[in-house]
Amino acid sequence: MMQLIEWRDAFCTGISGVDYEHEELIKLINSVFSKSRGKTSMVNSLNEIYAEIAGHFMLEEQIMKHEKYDQYEEHRKDHARLLEDIGAITDSYESDEDIEKLKQLMNEWFVVHFQTHDARLHRLID
Ligand SMILES: [Fe+2]
Ligand SMILES: [Fe+2]
Repeated sequence: MMQLIEWRDAFCTGISGVDYEHEELIKLINSVFSKSRGKTSMVNSLNEIYAEIAGHFMLEEQIMKHEKYDQYEEHRKDHARLLEDIGAITDSYESDEDIEKLKQLMNEWFVVHFQTHDARLHRLID
């Protein structure tokens, strides 16, 4: 079956804790979106995704602070933007159309963010 987010080697940052969490996040997101479900169950799953992502961002932001990373602000803002978008869509969730929007948003965001912000983080602090 086609997964929402396909793992690709370009996602590897080389920071083992970060890579592990990325894989876990992708697994969770893929499993949540692999079947349709009732609204209550979907909202619970979206809240779980939100919490897991927020925890992951905290890890990266701690690493960046610790390393006095030069693009901390830009990177942090991109994290905040995704959480805001997920929260807003979850709060206003009415129909399958909203879920489609969310799937598209997550797929695009992960593919781009992993390969730009997260990949750069590794190159500079390694
Ligand atoms: Fe990140
Ligand atoms: Fe990340």
